[in-house]
Amino acid sequence: MTSGGDAPGMNAAIRAVARTALYHGIEVVGIKNGYQGMIDKNFRRLESHMVSDIIQRGGTMLKSARSEEFMTEEGRRKAYNQVSEEGIDGLVVIGGDGTFKGARMFSLEHNIPVVGIPGTIDNDLYGTDYTIGYDTALNTIVEAVDKIRDTASSHNRLFFVEVMGKDAGFLALRGGIACGAEAILIPELNFDTTSLREHLEAGYKRSKLSNIILVAEGDETGGAFNIAEQVKDQFEGYDIRVTVLGHIQRGGSPSAFDRVIASQLGVAAVDALLDDQKSVMVGLMNREVVHIPFNRTIKHHKDVNRRLVDIQDILSI
Ligand code: F6P
Repeated sequence: MTSGGDAPGMNAAIRAVARTALYHGIEVVGIKNGYQGMIDKNFRRLESHMVSDIIQRGGTMLKSARSEEFMTEEGRRKAYNQVSEEGIDGLVVIGGDGTFKGARMFSLEHNIPVVGIPGTIDNDLYGTDYTIGYDTALNTIVEAVDKIRDTASSHNRLFFVEVMGKDAGFLALRGGIACGAEAILIPELNFDTTSLREHLEAGYKRSKLSNIILVAEGDETGGAFNIAEQVKDQFEGYDIRVTVLGHIQRGGSPSAFDRVIASQLGVAAVDALLDDQKSVMVGLMNREVVHIPFNRTIKHHKDVNRRLVDIQDILSI
């Protein structure tokens, strides 16, 4: 099952889970529309050929949803009844922290093993260095910002470019380094208008006439339009433009990196169920597969890499 926001590479993970299970002689059922599909008994038996030709596709062939009903005890009971009627005795859920919160409650209340695979472009899950979809989204950001750079430098403009990431700055930070952004504004770091202006003015004195600032969406920054509004009085003389990259960051064919980690984690998830693991997320740390209890990945906050923040600062003078 895939749940929450779709992410490129989810299909590669579905394929890996299905093929690994079939390899071990286990029957596989795809649940459509996330947790809501469990409640609605939206099940489909998966054979090997049904997951052919999907490794390269964005989105998710199982579709995805965020289910209000599953957040209630009654909804989860209904889901469990459907699942047990179908003879399903282990679940693999692909998604982010909301997905794992639901999975944890479900497995505690109904004693069914659930293994999670981290699939979100945000890369904000504790217990894994990478989530499926993050690398592809990052590459989409780089491609888009490189294009914006052409206009920024042709017109000597200051662009605020908003990238996704819910309340986390992972996409903005790595995206900023990869695009040579003049600054990044992310929820993990304090932002003040005066020091941003001083930073840009210092660049101007060194002949830097155009600037790109990546802004992480979310409540902390208020988004790129909000920042542009906030700074406009102090930034007289700057020709400011705002671009919100939006959902193009979630789509597209997954990168080779995302396809490979999706394959690794899909195999690892089935192995974990076969090893009688329950309520864990399979993740990758230092390139090794790890098993992190849902409880830990949900409760702990993953911090951005402070060394990368320094690198962004050093290189954006
Ligand atoms: O969690 C993935 C994500 O793309 C976030 O970066 C973003 O805040 C959110 O989903 C957007 O969700 P929706 O597609 O429901 O608007």
